[in-house]
Amino acid sequence: MQKLSARQTTVILLAGLLALVWTLGTVHARPGKRYDEGSQMCRFIDKGEYDWPSDHWGQGARTFKKVCQGCHFKGNDKGVPFIHPEIMSSEGWNKVFSKKRKACAKDGSWDVLSANELLILNDYLYRNANDTYDPNDADSCG
Ligand code: HEC
Repeated sequence: MQKLSARQTTVILLAGLLALVWTLGTVHARPGKRYDEGSQMCRFIDKGEYDWPSDHWGQGARTFKKVCQGCHFKGNDKGVPFIHPEIMSSEGWNKVFSKKRKACAKDGSWDVLSANELLILNDYLYRNANDTYDPNDADSCG
């Protein structure tokens, strides 16, 4: 391979640095704190014990796929609407869990989940909702 000039090296390093800053900035725009009305607690979902379970690969995502999308999957023949995290905003998801007014919350379909599993599921949906990559801060407390 041809040796790069000092100028070419500088350009490449700068581009790499920009990409890194951009990536960190994007990640940082995700909400880090969620006010939970039920427990009246501020949950720090981007660090510590709640971080991993509420991210794409964590427990919350698995619960969502297994339990919620067990009914709400695309193309089901029961007329249940297909849902995914981005159908609503972070605050919208908080309301779904604090008010429990949806048909399935009222008819006991959520009862297979413990209080703690519901909190983690709420964390996951809050963190991955349709507004979480908004440059405006989406934290709801703290
Ligand atoms: C046993 C099947 C079943 C399970 C499990 C279930 N749901 Fe539902 N869900 C329904 C049905 C049926 C409706 C009512 C649809 C309607 O109003 O026509 C509904 C409605 C909803 C709605 C309103 C959707 C809309 O477009 O109006 C949301 C949001 C929702 N469920 C979220 C969840 C979440 C979150 C979970 C997991 C904790 C879950 N559901 C688990 C069957 C289920």
